[in-house]
Amino acid sequence: MEQTLSIIKPDAVEKDQIGNILSRFEKAGLKIVAVKMLHISKAEAESFYEVHRKKPFYKDLTTFLSSGPILVLVLEGKDAIALNRKLMGATDPAKAEAGTIRKDLAESIDRNAVHGSDAPETAKQEIAFFFQPDEIFSKEPPHRKKGCCCCCS
Ligand code: CMP
Repeated sequence: MEQTLSIIKPDAVEKDQIGNILSRFEKAGLKIVAVKMLHISKAEAESFYEVHRKKPFYKDLTTFLSSGPILVLVLEGKDAIALNRKLMGATDPAKAEAGTIRKDLAESIDRNAVHGSDAPETAKQEIAFFFQPDEIFSKEPPHRKKGCCCCCS
């Protein structure tokens, strides 16, 4: 079992696509174990996307993420990171496969509807950016061994 962070970005929230996207996660077998609606500041968006600070799109990306309400979620399931990325489709909607969230709902690489963690370590950091441990309602039975998985540190 794995957890990953998903963000429904301002463009998809504005277009009333929250329910559509959440239902795609649930139909694919991902459990929604934490959720919040937030309007983050530019500084918070800069901090979240720190890894992209040197990229030419950093300013526009952080302005966009802080431009309106977003939904942040923790998704849980087998291979949750890869499954969420498959459901999202390629970063650029023009290159995304048919039936993916970005192909169906996003208009451009800058306004691409959703974000998803790309690896276990990133998922851990991104989840901790938005959620305290007691805000996450895992469906997994309590684990027994310290360090047995990403949730048992
Ligand atoms: P996301 O998955 O949230 O991760 C970083 C975001 O930067 C990405 O989605 C895109 O919305 C945005 N972005 C803009 N231009 C690019 C680019 N050339 N390559 C990758 N990401 C880009």
